[in-house]
Formats: sequence, structure tokens, C-alpha cells
Amino acid sequence: MVNHITDLSSLPAPHEKRLALRVTKDALRQIRGGHPWVFGNSILKGDDGQPGDLAVIFDDNRKFAAIGLYDPASPMAVKLLHVGKPLSIDADFFVDRVAAAIDVRAPLMDGTETTGHRLIHGENDGLPGFVVDRYDTTLVIKLYSAAWFPHLMSLIDALQELGATPDAAVERIVLRLSRNVARGNCFGLNDGQTIFGSPPDTDIEFVENGLRFGADVVAGQKTGHFFDQRDNRLAVQHETKGDVLDVFSSTGGFSVYAAAGGAATVTSVDINQPSLDAAEANMSRNGLQEMVRHTTICGDAFSVLSDFASDGRKFDVVVIDPPSFAQKNSDIDAALHAYRRLTTRGLALVRNGGLFVQASCSSRVSTDEFYGAIHDAADQAGVQLLDQRRAGHALDHPIGFVYGGYLKALFARVQR
Ligand SMILES: C[S@@+](CC[C@H](N)C(=O)[O-])C[C@H]1O[C@@H](n2cnc3c(N)ncnc32)[C@H](O)[C@@H]1O
Repeated sequence: MVNHITDLSSLPAPHEKRLALRVTKDALRQIRGGHPWVFGNSILKGDDGQPGDLAVIFDDNRKFAAIGLYDPASPMAVKLLHVGKPLSIDADFFVDRVAAAIDVRAPLMDGTETTGHRLIHGENDGLPGFVVDRYDTTLVIKLYSAAWFPHLMSLIDALQELGATPDAAVERIVLRLSRNVARGNCFGLNDGQTIFGSPPDTDIEFVENGLRFGADVVAGQKTGHFFDQRDNRLAVQHETKGDVLDVFSSTGGFSVYAAAGGAATVTSVDINQPSLDAAEANMSRNGLQEMVRHTTICGDAFSVLSDFASDGRKFDVVVIDPPSFAQKNSDIDAALHAYRRLTTRGLALVRNGGLFVQASCSSRVSTDEFYGAIHDAADQAGVQLLDQRRAGHALDHPIGFVYGGYLKALFARVQR
């Protein structure tokens, strides 16, 4: 076992005893169809247990169907780890899962052009609710389920032993906790706590497609950087000219690539001032502040877009990358309405022949619904959109189940 600087002895050890559960026929069908969770309301009968207990799902013939982690506080009461024949869930199991995830990222990890990326993408890498992002030699573990606490040591050991940070040992591991997890029993651990190595005293630097970025891994949004748009940012860099508007810019991912691609001006809009400060710092890291006029605007994107239209502002490239608008199916209509509003307001600012990019990270909104909403709004505005590309996420965000492919991004030329 690897030494940890933070004392993690307060973490519970995994229980030997497994819970036995029977679920509805519909749930069993979904499990066998690759769905990564069992909802609590589809459990017919079973033992009660603690978060992180191993729960075995039996079929109607009392045969093993699947095994997962019990998470009684969550509507997704079992996070499935394996479906099919009986299997032991132990340290070796987690080593295999981590090794498989590293293997998927080999094309990124073999080079030096990108040293920041997602390393483990939860459900999509067979570890539901467990996310790891790599920032050079720092790993950030984000837990979306308290069921992972008893298994955290096994996963930390696997990450350290398997070379999760190529060419160098893991220097530091920071723990991030989702809001739901942070509200419960965290065994003395806190969101943003460094659980291995020394706490960072500044943003962690990493490289993405040869561009330098810094991330506040302790308090920044998600784990500090949105890696999923890496390929789409590169596409914007290659197609950039003139004046660029980056709406929902966060720490300036698209803004930095646009500046590197030769934009004359870049305007970054976000509601979060620390993110905009980070965007400025990221421009400086690449020496771009001398080559481009970069303006940041802190405010609500919907209002800023309206104000720009009133002021007659025009841009050659407009990128709109909002947060998720639909957490559940009942949010879908409101989300589509919001996307249409953003399309209408964004298109009003694009010069004829300019590039319009609009993204959605709402997994509940289908690709057809999303692209349909954009085109409806464009039609109503009397704007012709020539689709160039309909893109998703980069390879470090593999799609392992139906809602795993959440990111959609339309690249289109604007013609009036
Ligand atoms: C998906 S992230 C954007 C990621 C970014 N484009 C990148 O490439 O790194 C969404 C961003 O929207 C911002 N945001 C959320 N609501 C907002 C609003 N009403 N107006 C402006 N920004 C908002 C968040 O602060 C967050 O930075």
C-alpha cells in the first residue's frame, strides 16, 4: 500500500457481507441493457445496509444478475459495477477498471501536447459516480456518491500504482465532493482537501493541445477545468478570425484557443468572476494578452447578449456553451426553450458568413431535439444556418451508456 500524507484511517473499511436484492422485471431488463444504476423504487425486496456495501441483484430464479455499490441516500440506490456472471469486487477489480480507463486515454497520455484530461469518467468507465481528472502530476478525485468512501483507498492505490500521471509519480491528490455527498457523512474529509501530497498554493498548470492553462482544483467549478470541449476548442482555433464572443466562457477555454488562432478581439462572458479572472490568467500564460484585445464581462449571459444586440455589436465567431439546463426529464421543455433563446440572441450578433457554435451538456436533451431547437430558432429569425459539424466530446469522455453521450456542439456558418 502507498503512503498517504493525510490520515485516511477514518474511512470505513469495506464490509465483507453482501446485501441481496430483488428488483422489478423492468429494472432487471434495464440492468441487462447496460443501465448503470438501480433506482431505489425498483427494489422489491432486500437487506438494508451502509453506503458502499456490495449489493448483489438476483433474478427471479435466484441467480446472480449484477453487483454494485449500495447508496441508500441516493434515488440511484445501487451503482452497478458488473453485470453477468458472479465476480469478486476487490482491490484487483478496481486495478483492472483503472487500467482499462488509462488504456482508453493512451493516445492523449503518450504525448506531451496535452497533460490535463479526464482520467476516469464515472459510469462510462464502469465506476458510477467516481470521476478522476488529471492535471499534469496532480489528480483530482470527485465523488458523486458516498458509496465510494469505503473503496477510496483501493482506488487511490490503483491510481498511484498504474502510472496515472505518465513519466512522473503522482505528486498530489485532491478530493472534491459533489454537493449531495458533502451534505452527508464524509468521515472527516472535506471538499477541496488534499489527501495525498502537499496542498497546492496556486492554480495547477497543465497543457491542452499545446496551450497552457491553470486550474483552481481546490475550489474551481467541477474539478477546475472543463475538459470535454477540448476537441471543439481546437476546431474553433482553426476556424477563428476577427472578433470572437465566448459566452459562458468559464476559465476561457474557447477564448484562449480563439486568441491563439489569430482572433483580433476576444470577449469572454461568464457569471462567475473568479472564472473570468482565470481566463485572463490563461491568456497571459500563453503570452496572448499582447496579441489580442481581451475583454471579460461578468454577468448573466442572456442579458449580456440582449444588451449587445441593442448596442448593435457584431462578431465573426460566437460560441455559446451553457451549463446543463435539464437535470431530469421534466426539465427538457424548459431547457429547449432556453437553447432557442440563446440561439436567437447569439445569431443576432454574428456577421454574415460568420461562425456560430452552440453546445449543450444536458444529457436528457437528445441530439435531434437540440439541433432541431437551434434550427427552429434560426428559421424564425430568418437566418440560414449551414451546418459544418455536429460534434461531441473528446476521447477522454467515452460513452458507456445511454446518457453518457451528453455533449452536443453545432458548428454552423451564418447566412442572411
Ligand atoms: C459548461 S461551463 C462552460 C465551459 C467553457 N466554455 C469552457 O470551455 O471551459 C458553463 C459556464 O457557464 C457559467 N454560467 C452559468 N450560468 C450563467 C449565466 N446565467 N450567465 C453567464 N454564465 C453562466 C458558469 O459559471 C460556467 O463557467
